[in-house]
Amino acid sequence: MSDTTKESGLLTAVREFPANVWSSIFRNPLPSNDLERASTSFTNFFLHVHPVKVNRNTLRPLYTLGLGLMSFFLFLILVVTGVLLMFYYVPSTTQAYDRMLDLRGSVAFGIFLRNMHRWSAHGMVAIVFLHMCRVFFTGAYKKPREFNWVLGVGLLLVTLFLSFTGYLLPWDQLAFWAITVGTSIAGYAPLVGKQIQFLLLGDATVGQEALLRFYVLHVAVLPLVLTLLIAIHFWRIRKDGGLSRPEEPARAQAVTLIVTTVGAPPSEPRPSGSVKKTYGLQGFVRGPFIRAGNVPDNSVFSWPNLLIAELFVFVLTVAVILVLSLLFNAPLEEPVNIMHPPNPAKAPWYFLGLQEMVSYSAFWGGVGVWFARQRLLANTIFLTLVVVNVIFIIIGTFFRGPNWQMVSPW
Ligand code: HEM
Repeated sequence: MSDTTKESGLLTAVREFPANVWSSIFRNPLPSNDLERASTSFTNFFLHVHPVKVNRNTLRPLYTLGLGLMSFFLFLILVVTGVLLMFYYVPSTTQAYDRMLDLRGSVAFGIFLRNMHRWSAHGMVAIVFLHMCRVFFTGAYKKPREFNWVLGVGLLLVTLFLSFTGYLLPWDQLAFWAITVGTSIAGYAPLVGKQIQFLLLGDATVGQEALLRFYVLHVAVLPLVLTLLIAIHFWRIRKDGGLSRPEEPARAQAVTLIVTTVGAPPSEPRPSGSVKKTYGLQGFVRGPFIRAGNVPDNSVFSWPNLLIAELFVFVLTVAVILVLSLLFNAPLEEPVNIMHPPNPAKAPWYFLGLQEMVSYSAFWGGVGVWFARQRLLANTIFLTLVVVNVIFIIIGTFFRGPNWQMVSPW
């Protein structure tokens, strides 16, 4: 081969290099027909979390309000901003507060980073709670989704604990006394209360041991547990047949059609009155969509319908956090002064309902489908509990003054 041919071959390889890298990662062009839409969902690591097609009803914005997704995106924002904050933070009682001042004064965008982390954390607690309310009101916790509800309770508890452990890290008066009060509420738990309190603090009072324990839990243990639980939570949604959805009257009457993929045991018993059909997995993918028995098809391709909805929720979540972080600064009070507790000392807001309860006695410690008649009793009991907790949180936040006396906020 001549030198000039070799040279031009090399030039072509260099010129095609970016395109080759691109096409080795993204195997499909932007989809323009149903087959490509399905194939894109199948072959992309991130997209294959979704089914190729979803029921149109699950995309109704007023059914889920996108609250579960918002919780997830807030967690992502928290991970990104949290890792960046870790470059500056030191979990030491002598340095932590100074590092907060540095973030404010000398680190580029430090204050903005802290604001984003703080407001996303409060937002996540509130949104996860609202997501749980939505799941309850729509009855989405029922069979076959009971296990996902149980996982959800775990998710709520870990979210609360993540926020609580983060609260201490700035090591200012607000942090110190909120955690002192919060952990003493844990001390009221029957039988093991005092042991739990000691396990959390690593000491009799909040100090260096507690700061280190809270830090390790906050930046490593709890985020890992939450990531694992979220992964199982999403996997269960697929296994439970996608999201629950309002019943479609016309479809409910339709012939029950059991579709199995190739390889399913042929001897499965057939429910009476049903038609058994066996398709290759590609049967779902190939367009036009296979219809058997003229069953009305109410599903749409995840690409782009579900993705656009998800992108919208993502942009909305990020935008709200950015605006809040531009407008409001995360609080930073005086450095810790053990001799000077604020009066009253209050736990973080989501535990104020508990604090209010404990303060009485140490011994007490599509929206329309949300309110269906069949769930009236269960929903009323749940709603009452939620309302009582919210009222207690408002009383604890605004109406309690020195010595836990009632005060007027005005
Ligand atoms: C970190 C916290 C959580 C995240 C990131 C999360 C995420 C999600 C997402 C993205 C969905 C899809 C539908 C939607 O957006 O509503 C979902 C559904 C669901 N979540 Fe969560 N969730 C969390 C906490 C919870 C909690 C606290 C519960 C209940 C105690 C719960 C129970 C469920 C159930 C049962 C479903 C299925 C709902 C249905 O089929 O309609 N999740 N979750």
